[in-house]
Amino acid sequence: MKTDFFKYQAQTSPQPLAMKIGRAEGSYIYDTNNKPYLDFVAGISACTLGHKHPKIINAIKTQADCYLHVMVYGEYIQKPAVELTKLLAQHLPKKLEKTYLTNSGTEAVEGALKLAKRATGRSQIIAAKHAYHGNTMGAMSVMGYEERKKAFRPLLPDVQFITYNNTNELDKITTKTACVILETIQGGAGFIVPSKDYLLKVQERCHEVGALLILDEIQSGIGRTGKLFGFQNYNCTPDILVSGKGLGGGMPIGAFTASAKLMDLLQDHPKLGHITTFGGHPVIAASALATLKEVIESNLITQTLEKEKLFRKHLVHPLITEIRGKGLMLAALTPSAEITNEVILRCQDAGLILFWLLFEPKAIRITPPLTISNKEIVKGCSIIIDILNRISPSQDTPTT
Ligand SMILES: Cc1ncc(COP(=O)(O)O)c(C=O)c1O
Repeated sequence: MKTDFFKYQAQTSPQPLAMKIGRAEGSYIYDTNNKPYLDFVAGISACTLGHKHPKIINAIKTQADCYLHVMVYGEYIQKPAVELTKLLAQHLPKKLEKTYLTNSGTEAVEGALKLAKRATGRSQIIAAKHAYHGNTMGAMSVMGYEERKKAFRPLLPDVQFITYNNTNELDKITTKTACVILETIQGGAGFIVPSKDYLLKVQERCHEVGALLILDEIQSGIGRTGKLFGFQNYNCTPDILVSGKGLGGGMPIGAFTASAKLMDLLQDHPKLGHITTFGGHPVIAASALATLKEVIESNLITQTLEKEKLFRKHLVHPLITEIRGKGLMLAALTPSAEITNEVILRCQDAGLILFWLLFEPKAIRITPPLTISNKEIVKGCSIIIDILNRISPSQDTPTT
């Protein structure tokens, strides 16, 4: 299988981890030899309720027995999509009332950017340096890393960048600006949380000049930071909220949510202003609905902050220079990319799944399922500490 994997399946990196997956359940993924790996990554913040959660599997099976794809997005009334969008609205501020469901996060970002242009009649988009919003052409245009984009230019014109967390640059947002798009917590950059009032100040500036604020919660949403959505920690409300990943509970999804007034603009002038065949797919929506219900009805959201404390308590070591992030969106920084690589690879051998962040090579990603138990957290942390103890601090020269 490994030979065929490399021969036939297109790869995204020269050295994929290439673990052969047998099955997954709870907080564990098992390889084809049935070796268990404790999952501190959750498919990159996607498997909110862990693996093979009975409520999700049941929702998927029940819906699959009923009907699969029947029509393109938005034409027919399909219970899972209606209930999912309703439940989202019930748990969001009043102005975030209508949701458009997509197949992925990056598509939801595309939809949000289009909506902002359509609503304002303006073309300028402002994004943050070191931002990541996905990999399609529009989403890549607002990525804050030139070296990752230059091979694909020309991209969207009229995109400007500001420094995240720097309120002195907010005057770049003007009456020419259609929207500002920001991750509530910057993910790829290294789990950078917004400083006090930053997002509120951006929101105020946007409203001053008639621009829309888009917050990308594809990674921080669905309970991961101690609230259903990250922005609810920061006393602000976006005009357009983008979600994905963890909303699907392990199934592919994206969503953008705004007021009915904004959202209804996509219906006409031009008609069919944003269309998709599979967005809102009934099986995916059923999985997302089961996930969202469980997150809302259980005490998982409040537990994330307790679990964060446990991680911070147990991840104390001279080679861990900092722990960034909030809730169960954490990054442990080591002094060098080499040490980080070694920890991630050696932990995998030792039965613990960790991963990298896109643009911060010294960061170890810790984004477990919200359902991870305290015991599993302590066990995983002890594997990390054990590996760090075996790495000689002198073998790498710290870069900071
Ligand atoms: C903040 C953020 N935005 C957008 C995306 C793109 O989502 P997807 O990979 O589902 O297209 C991601 C994925 O990592 C993300 O973390």
